[in-house]
This record gives sequence, structure tokens and C-alpha cells, in this order.
Amino acid sequence: TKQRSQSPDEVEAKEKDERTVTVNPSHMGKAFKVMNELRSKRLLCDVVIVAEAVEMEAHRVVLAACSPYFCAMFTGDMTESKAKKIEIKDVDGQTLSKLIDYIYTAEIEVTEENVQVLLPAASLLQLMDVRQNCCDFLQSQLHPTNCLGIRAFADVHTCTELLQQANAYAEQHFPEVMLGEEFLSLTLDQVCSLISSDKLTVSSEEKVFEAVISWINYEKESRLEHMAKLMEHVRLPLLPRDYLVQTVEEEALIKNNNTCKDFLIEAMKYHLLPLDQRQLIKNPRTKPRTPVSLPKVMIVVGGQAPKAIRSVECYDFEEDRWEQVAELPSRRCRAGVVFMAGNVYAVGGFNGSLRVRTVDVYDGVKDQWTSIASMQERRSTLGAAVLNELLYAVGGFDGSTGLASVEAYSYKTNEWFFVAPMNTRRSSVGVGVVEGKLYAVGGYDGASRQCLSTVEQYNPATNEWTYVADMSTRRSGAGVGVLSGQLYATGSVQAPVMKKRQRLRGVSRLLVWKQVADMNMCRRNAGVCAVNGLLYVVGGDDGSCNLASVEYYNPVTDKWTLLPTNMSTGRSYAGNKMSSLLMLCSHLELSYL
Ligand SMILES: *[C@@H]1O[C@H](CO)[C@@H](O)[C@H](O)[C@H]1NC(C)=O
Ligand SMILES: *[C@@H]1O[C@H](CO)[C@@H](O)[C@H](O)[C@H]1NC(C)=O
Ligand SMILES: *[C@@H]1O[C@H](CO)[C@@H](O)[C@H](O)[C@H]1NC(C)=O
Repeated sequence: TKQRSQSPDEVEAKEKDERTVTVNPSHMGKAFKVMNELRSKRLLCDVVIVAEAVEMEAHRVVLAACSPYFCAMFTGDMTESKAKKIEIKDVDGQTLSKLIDYIYTAEIEVTEENVQVLLPAASLLQLMDVRQNCCDFLQSQLHPTNCLGIRAFADVHTCTELLQQANAYAEQHFPEVMLGEEFLSLTLDQVCSLISSDKLTVSSEEKVFEAVISWINYEKESRLEHMAKLMEHVRLPLLPRDYLVQTVEEEALIKNNNTCKDFLIEAMKYHLLPLDQRQLIKNPRTKPRTPVSLPKVMIVVGGQAPKAIRSVECYDFEEDRWEQVAELPSRRCRAGVVFMAGNVYAVGGFNGSLRVRTVDVYDGVKDQWTSIASMQERRSTLGAAVLNELLYAVGGFDGSTGLASVEAYSYKTNEWFFVAPMNTRRSSVGVGVVEGKLYAVGGYDGASRQCLSTVEQYNPATNEWTYVADMSTRRSGAGVGVLSGQLYATGSVQAPVMKKRQRLRGVSRLLVWKQVADMNMCRRNAGVCAVNGLLYVVGGDDGSCNLASVEYYNPVTDKWTLLPTNMSTGRSYAGNKMSSLLMLCSHLELSYL
């Protein structure tokens, strides 16, 4: 290669480099250490800071250097600039002493006990780093039981960022937040503001209705008069018809108020309209909520076209566009795919010659796949799901037999471990999570050479699998998706989609499967995922070829719609086995649990 001649600027810069000034990085730290030693020996101190009878000697210049509050005090014309003793009001002695220690040592311990007094005191002294530490600490403590309290605290102390975080947290965890004391103690205006937010994350508007009823009932006598005001923000038209009739109409709080009844009538009318006319209604109560935690893209991982492929495609819901993203490190079809802690996991599968144990993780920010710890067993056509921050790999096929075993992965330790096995071997099994339980649906047991109609439920608290209601049809290769707390299984040519009623309100605790509308195309071995309240079915094969098309089901209208654009590649696994493909980033499922 040719050597480029250096420009005069570069020569000068180089000469400068050669007589570089050395900076000693430990100098400042050492100096502060000595200042702190002098303070503890009470040497060279020139001021006494007093708070609630606690007296602390210190050096003005040190305090002024770290706290704009002290700096203004000591350099201004106020009498304090010369005073020997200075009293600080509104701060207790212990807290002030901690903050002065911080000024000298840069160390502070923020705890659950002290954070509420530390933050205002740090604000007073304008120790902005400490204030930020307190905010970070509170943010890390956010929980459905305390987020509204933290939100109020952040509001009082004008911690703008924390206020937004706490508010977003409350919206995103609303189904749990609404059960707590903090929610029940909100004022009318606060409840209205929370439930009118478009960003409220609820699997169904039922939650909002239930929240209103429990808030009223908490102090019924005094709150009864607010019922109509609150119902103004409940999007009743978005509720299923049977819920309106069986629950909303039966509610005494609704029956007894004409304004509330009007809202119910409005919702009923909405249901009576033909679909195309519903869209014309402009009303805040007919607008679906748009929670921020909902995914913006759907990712389709690997698959078979016609052999195992590395290709990964991403669908942008807003722009209605498919885009190729980084390819898998190795070929993979019939893998389990889940979304967990911000990343997409492709688990096991078939690489064209072998069933694999390997697991790859996709980082969407870097557009990059990396391999993590492998499973203990080889598994293709497995079921994969996330529950309580663990990734479960359920059943599958290891190359010679169907598996009953189940293992779980913790991303915190990067380790796989076995949990209780299912009662049945299931390859080509569909899995889904509903209300804290994991469901394994159908599949093949390998023995009877028949598809299974049984469904098992896993309770992580007891580490046990138990049988629940059978499906009406034997099925394998079922794509299973969870939508609004209901489990959907797709995938059999004869009976396209089944819907499980998870929460029956009557005496019977039986789970019932109910058939919903047919898909536009016959699809086997399709990928399924629930996004934005819709159930997407991706690719699959129709018995003769792999499909590039995608369609979604809307449970409100009981209707299937094809996406206007297809994937670049038709994908599935031909042969009536399991989802060659994958599924995707369903925050939705996670945040609803
Ligand atoms: C219904 O609620 C509204 C508003 O809260 C109130 O003005 C009205 O008097 C109530 N009607 C009945 C019949 O209680
Ligand atoms: C499948 O995986 C095995 C074991 O890791 C490897 O030896 C083989 O080359 C892979 N096959 C393909 C087609 O990538
Ligand atoms: C998508 O694929 C289907 C066949 O699977 C085809 O009928 C349809 O025309 C395709 N749509 C577009 C927009 O290319």
C-alpha cells in the first residue's frame, strides 16, 4: 500500500503529542481524602453547620465547591457568608451529616428508609447527583403496589423523569395496580386521568370497568355520585357483547343511574351497527387503547423453504412493510421462538440434518444474533414460552422420540435446568401462557401415532402438570397464541381456529373450546402470535406449497384479514409437523399476565 504524505496540520499535531502534559487521574481523589481526614481531625475547618442540634465542622471551600447552595451562601453578601455557625432548616441532622460526608467522599447509601428524606435534602443543597441517585433508586423499586405513591412523591418534588416513569409504570401494570390500596385511595380526578389514558395496558376493557367498580365500592357512600363521571372514560363499546349483557347491565351501580345506562345503550348500539359503519363513529369510547409496551414489529425466524433456512424477516406494523434483518448464525426450522427481556430467542429446532440443543438470541438494537447456553436435550417442534422471567422449552422431538421433559432457562444466570415433565410425550406441541400458568396443547405422543387432543397446565408455584379440558379436535402442529387472556390454537385444516374460554363466571370451572371464524387460507404449521389485540397467523403450508401471506384475527369482529403485503419467502414445514417458523415479540402476552 502507498504511504500518504502527512499534511502540515498532522505534523504539528504529532509534535504536540510528543510533549503531552501528563494528567494524574488520582490527584483529586487523594486531595479529597486528605481534606476529609483534616475534617475528622477538625483541622483548618472554618465553619460549623448545624441541623437539629447536630453540629458538623467543615471547610467552606469544600462545601462551596460541591454544592451550589453553599457556594451561593458563602460567596454572597448575606450575613451567612461570614458567619461561623450556620443553621440549616428543614433538614434533619442525620441526613445533613450524610450529605456532608458525601461532599467529602462521593459516597452515599440510598435505602428504602432514607430515600424520602434524602431526596428533598439533596435538592435543597443542589447536590444533583445525589438527587439523581435517589430517583434511580425509586425507579428501581417501582412495583404495582407502590408506583402511584412514587408518582405522587415525584410530583411533589418535581422529579420530572421519575414522574413520567412512575406514571408509565402504573399504566403498563394497570391490571395489578388497580387491585392495590394506592389505587383505591386516589382522588376522583386522579382515577379519571389514569383510566382516560390511551396508554393504559389492559388485555380487555373489562379491567377498566372492574377498576371503576372497585374504586366506587371502596367508599361507596361518598363516591356513588361519581359513577357517571367515571363511566365516561370506560370504553364500553369495545367490550364483548356477552360481557355487556351479563356483567355491565347486571351491575347495580349502572342500573341505578340513567347517565350510566346511556353509556351502556351507546355500547349496545355500537354492537348493532354493521362493521363498516362502526368505524365512522368518532367517540373517545370507541377508540382502542394503544399501550406503549405493545410491539412495533413482528419477527419471523428461520423456517423451511423448502429446507431449513437462516433468513429472518421483520414486519413493521405501522409502515406495513417487511424487511430482512440479520440472518441466524445457523439454519433452523421448527424452533421455539419467544420474546424475553428485550430480546428474541430462537430455541432448538432442526438444522436440516440434526435436531439441535442450541439457542440463539437476537438483539434488535445491534441487529445481531449471538449464541447462549444450550439446552440439555435436543428438541425440534418444541413449545417455547416465557413465564415469570423464565424461558420454558416444552416437549418436542429429539430425532428418535417425542419428549415429555421440560426445561427452563434463566437469562440472569444463563443456565438451563429441568422442571417437572409433562404427563404425556408431546412433539409438535403448542404452548401458551394464561394468568400465570403454562399450557401445553395437543401434539403427537409418538406411541399411538395419533394427534393428541389433551391439554396440560403447568403451575410454576407447585412445579406440577395437570390435565385440563380436551380440545374438540385432535391436533398437532398447533400454533398457539394468547389473546386477551384466551388461548387460541390454530393449525388443523378441518378446524382452523379454536378459542378457549378461560374464565367462565358460572359454577362450572371447566374450560370450553369454541370455534371462531375460518381463516382465509388453509394453513398447517403456521406461526402464531398475538399483537395489539389481534392474533397473527404467519405463513404455513396449504398442503401443496409454503405460504408467504399473513392474516390476523380480530376477536371483537370475529373476522380474519390478510395483510396487504406478503413476506419475501414462503415458509413452513411441509409434513403436518409443527411450526417450522416461529413467532414473535409479543410483549402483549407478557404484560398481561
Ligand atoms: C347519575 O349520576 C349523575 C352524575 O354523577 C348525577 O348527576 C345523577 O343525579 C345521577 N342519577 C341518578 C338517578 O342517580
Ligand atoms: C447441523 O448441526 C450439526 C451439529 O451441530 C452439524 O454438524 C451439521 O453440519 C449441521 N447441519 C447443517 C445443514 O447445518
Ligand atoms: C400473497 O400470497 C398469496 C398466496 O399465498 C397470493 O395469493 C397473494 O396475491 C399475495 N399477495 C401479495 C400482495 O403479493
